[in-house]
Amino acid sequence: MTVNRKPVMAGNWKMYKTVQEAETFLEALMNKVKGLLATDQPDIILCPPFTALDAMHRLLSNEKTISLGAQTMESHEEGAYTGEISPKMLAVLHVQFVIIGHSERREYFHETDTQVHAKIGAALQFGLTPIVCVGESLAQREAGQTDAWIKKQVEAALKDYSPEQRQKMIFAYEPIWAIGTGKVCDAVEANRVIGSIRQTIGLPEVRILYGGSVKPDNVTGLMAQPEIDGGLVGGASLDPDSFFQLIQAAMPQKVSVS
Ligand code: PGA
Repeated sequence: MTVNRKPVMAGNWKMYKTVQEAETFLEALMNKVKGLLATDQPDIILCPPFTALDAMHRLLSNEKTISLGAQTMESHEEGAYTGEISPKMLAVLHVQFVIIGHSERREYFHETDTQVHAKIGAALQFGLTPIVCVGESLAQREAGQTDAWIKKQVEAALKDYSPEQRQKMIFAYEPIWAIGTGKVCDAVEANRVIGSIRQTIGLPEVRILYGGSVKPDNVTGLMAQPEIDGGLVGGASLDPDSFFQLIQAAMPQKVSVS
């Protein structure tokens, strides 16, 4: 079966950029993206802090080539959850994507597999595409536990969701030891792990990204791998020039056979 998976380049800004800085970035990126043919573009997603989402949506106006994502959310529609943001609040801001279960959320905010699972369902219910993150620590990799750990995380995320629901998800393989360290995972190894994630999901059309020190000088090797459909990028997404180089590397559309 031949499967077309549209490439994705997603920027995760983490806790960087004020509203004004976000607007300045977006204006610069829109100018660059304007020169690309629509048919050649990957899905371009920017995940700024919550505070910049509305201003960025207004600036994008009718510009459909760049989509907005949030970096996390609560699973409830509303309620007494001080400090949290709900999927409903994101949906009315025209947010289309939401990162779920990033390792920084799991580590610093103690998000569990159960919460990740609930958030995925809530995102789907409000028409948001979850970008579900999984990844092993250095200790797990060195102990040879990578494959079992990733499988467990993916199965916990997917539990009880139907093929129709699974189809609406994006996954990101982000080895924790590669995030923000400059130590990118070897492209062939990232390809292998992503292939096994796809097997666990059981649907060849689900897009799976690689994340962890993706930079302009290593993106081509990663994107050349048949299982890797794009990048989830932190540091290198903060500068419009380097993020645009990543977008260019994610073109043209890849056709893969599974
Ligand atoms: P990095 O972050 O590109 O800075 O390594 C990736 C991520 O955390 O999604």
